[in-house]
Amino acid sequence: MDKYKEIFQGTAFSSKSPKEIQILKDHLFCINRDGMIEKIVAPEDPDFQPLLDAYQGTNNFHPLAEGQYFLPGFVDLHVHAPQWAQSGTALDIPLYDWLNTYTFPLESKFSDLHFAEKVYDDVVSTLLANGTTTALYFATVHKEASLLLAEICAERGQRGLVGKVVMDDPQQNPENYRDMDTHTALADTEEFILAVQELSKTTKQGVYPVVTPRFIPSCTDNALKGLGELAAKYDTYVQSHCSESDWAHGYVKNRFQKNDAFALHDFGLLREKSVMAHCNFLDDEDADLFAGTGTAIAHCPISNAYFANSVIPIAHFHSKGVEIGLGSDISGGFSPSLFDNIRQAVISSRMLEDGVNASLPTKDRGVQGSRITIHEAFYLATAGGGESLSLPIGRIQENCAWDVQIIDTKLPSAKLPIFDENEDLHDVFQKMMYLVRPEHIREVWVQGEQVHSR
Ligand code: GUN
Ligand code: FE
Repeated sequence: MDKYKEIFQGTAFSSKSPKEIQILKDHLFCINRDGMIEKIVAPEDPDFQPLLDAYQGTNNFHPLAEGQYFLPGFVDLHVHAPQWAQSGTALDIPLYDWLNTYTFPLESKFSDLHFAEKVYDDVVSTLLANGTTTALYFATVHKEASLLLAEICAERGQRGLVGKVVMDDPQQNPENYRDMDTHTALADTEEFILAVQELSKTTKQGVYPVVTPRFIPSCTDNALKGLGELAAKYDTYVQSHCSESDWAHGYVKNRFQKNDAFALHDFGLLREKSVMAHCNFLDDEDADLFAGTGTAIAHCPISNAYFANSVIPIAHFHSKGVEIGLGSDISGGFSPSLFDNIRQAVISSRMLEDGVNASLPTKDRGVQGSRITIHEAFYLATAGGGESLSLPIGRIQENCAWDVQIIDTKLPSAKLPIFDENEDLHDVFQKMMYLVRPEHIREVWVQGEQVHSR
């Protein structure tokens, strides 16, 4: 009777491969005490009825109502938590000006823990309400406020991977917003790693420290080298911005006579647990280096449309064996929703393939083979994110964490346009991808615990 902690009943959608989804119709999902999916039972399975008989009517049995579906929780591979406070603003200027005029002054305010708590509490709740169960966060240079973000994730039940940002170069960073010096940047990072590893022991879902050089332009060679050594010493995640904009890409070429990927690799920063945001200027050699080191790309399609004027070739990088997930890049991307980023990933890829204005005198209309389907974009937001982080998340399958969102397509105030009781579930899936808003997300679970409901 209490072999499982919870049993859920309903229909779930999960990625089988980047291009294909799997539909588990009316199955039982048996969750153990560690919050893992221990067993998935199909209606025709001999265990189905005995399990129903044992659990139905108990507090541990959760049947979905008609029109409700399970989706895997989203994995957001790139969020600047402090920038939530400026989301939606200042998107009409270039990256360099945006950083100096808006972003660094905002982030400098996170020395104030009261301000930090307000923003961090809100961004974590907002992401959970948008179905994001795992988030890879940049915090700020401040060690205490960065730890506070990890504590809020721990408390709210979100699987947070958090980095104290390193920006130590006095030539490149503002006087009032940078690490005091290289030694302090590295010492603070090491203390932060140890504190988050301790904190993680108090959580079920896990919180993780992330070595976080903001991007090459903000760091000295000694800081980059020291951070690579810390990542190896503590076997941590690593995140940074890589080959994002014309300006950043050009700066690195000028400083090291090579692309970001090889420069980061020289400092030991491309590892199995590395995730690099944007990667708009990644060439084939860089992509091979990513594949060889297990480094993943955080694809940020909304942000890239604004700051990089660029679309990365997802299909091409997949064919080279690079792991790719999706990132909101709050606030370079204005939306906290990975549903919005799934949609933009598809739209941008279509524009790259054949979206040149037909009336312009251009023979070459786009880049053949660029388009991705909604299924591939869903994969990026779920299974691709899990693979990028080397964690058993992003799929509804046995031995994965029970990280799910429950979508209500029959919400009385906002029904999805499903008029046929027997509508093909592949079509239902596509409608959810394009039309779900936060109000359709009824419940969110992380590691077998409910973390959001409406
Ligand atoms: N490059 C360095 N810092 C940032 C940032 O905060 N956002 C984006 N989009 N790019 C960056
Ligand atoms: Fe970013």
